[in-house]
Amino acid sequence: MGMKLDINGSVREVEASGDMPLLWVLRDLLQLSGTKYGCGMAQCGACTVHLDGKPVRSCVTPVSSVGARKVTTIEGLSPDGSHPVQRAWSEADVVQCGYCQSGQIMTAVALLEKKPDPTDSDIDAALSGNICRCGTYERVREAVRLAAKLKRGAK
Ligand code: FES
Ligand code: FES
Repeated sequence: MGMKLDINGSVREVEASGDMPLLWVLRDLLQLSGTKYGCGMAQCGACTVHLDGKPVRSCVTPVSSVGARKVTTIEGLSPDGSHPVQRAWSEADVVQCGYCQSGQIMTAVALLEKKPDPTDSDIDAALSGNICRCGTYERVREAVRLAAKLKRGAK
């Protein structure tokens, strides 16, 4: 079926069956490959994108359920990677293999929208569903704390 989706601020038309996961629409039909496939079962967080600012697992989100909600992927955070969370990630040198990182960043962005000054336990609770095989968890925490500071300074 044909449908219109609001992706990163642009209306995109796609032809897909309604039960196709949003992840495949993003990656295969729209070539937005920053969002990753990990488990396909809502367990790892690699596929996290935002729907109207809330983090969702795109691997288990049928595209027909998206409707008019705004989809934001890692590509939509900023045109040049200068979103405060991306800057903090770079400064804290978080990334190892990188595979889980767009999901981590999207989760962190949503946390900071909700809680601009998160405690360590807020950070742990929000990020606990994002699995990193490289074990970057300590640097992820550091980057979220730094991003919170950058964001407050940016406003
Ligand atoms: S790929 Fe979606 S949660 Fe793992
Ligand atoms: S950086 Fe490699 S899986 Fe997280």
